[in-house]
Amino acid sequence: MRPAEVVDRRIEAGISSSSAGATAARLEPVVDATATRHEAPARRLIHVGVIMDGNGRWAQRRGLPRRFGHRAGADAVRRAVENAPRLGIGTLTLYAFSCDNWRRPAPEVEALMALFEDYLARERKHALREGLRVSVIGRRDRLRPSLLDAIAKTETATAGGRSLHLRLAVDYSGRDAILAAVSRQPWGRPLDRNAFEQSLHEAIHSPVDVPELDLVIRTGGEQRLSDFLLWESAYAELYFTDRLWPDFSVADLEQAVSEFARRQRRFGGLARDDDDEDGDRVAIAARAPRRSRRARGGGS
Ligand code: FPP
Repeated sequence: MRPAEVVDRRIEAGISSSSAGATAARLEPVVDATATRHEAPARRLIHVGVIMDGNGRWAQRRGLPRRFGHRAGADAVRRAVENAPRLGIGTLTLYAFSCDNWRRPAPEVEALMALFEDYLARERKHALREGLRVSVIGRRDRLRPSLLDAIAKTETATAGGRSLHLRLAVDYSGRDAILAAVSRQPWGRPLDRNAFEQSLHEAIHSPVDVPELDLVIRTGGEQRLSDFLLWESAYAELYFTDRLWPDFSVADLEQAVSEFARRQRRFGGLARDDDDEDGDRVAIAARAPRRSRRARGGGS
């Protein structure tokens, strides 16, 4: 295969190209919504998860209480959300509050809950205007009624949004989600992977048609998942940056997505341009994702 063809095919498949010019802009919407599980979709929107770390340090470095860092973090959320569709992001899942974050001092927890409520109420109009769909994943039983009300109103109002699916993970734990899904399985029957995954999505209050997670970005210098989308990140690319979340700019997001576009994803198989031992072309390996049929169209 001629090198140019290799590059073209990689770009078509949304896989990677280390050649110059493979920018995020190339990650365009899926055109082949009928692809089977074993075909890489021709072009698709990507699902990005972000662990937004560093708000507290951002505030402390300025001699401010931590809650000011969270407020600045909300501005960084707005920036990311506004620019995500242009960068080929179809679904954006933001880790806003983990189940373990309840261990923080009560005033900080209170400030965060108020911030989420305020964000949901304020962004409702913007989301409707821009065609965003907003959902919240995680436990609902420990959230205060006014926040639950804001979630319900925003989810209902934006349910038809198609430009970006914004998912906020609030009181979320990847392990809890897996446990909840396991506990729904019928006793004594062998676990069926597809049924289990559907159950997992239901367990985290998420619609089933969420595409596979492609990229996890973590700001703030730590390199761990911290109980975020554990099952879903099985084949996600990981991107770590020292940038504190409130400082995370549009250029930083572009850089992360460009880096993703350069990564070569093999899902346990071989790259398209790898030859097998006999020198024959090897079909790209089964793309691992187990997504619902509806999800194969890319971003929801
Ligand atoms: C981790 O940084 C961040 C959080 C626990 C909260 C994330 C919340 C926001 C970004 C606020 C806005 C969100 C929405 C959805 C409006 P940290 O406080 O642990 O930072 P540190 O490691 O520097 O202490």
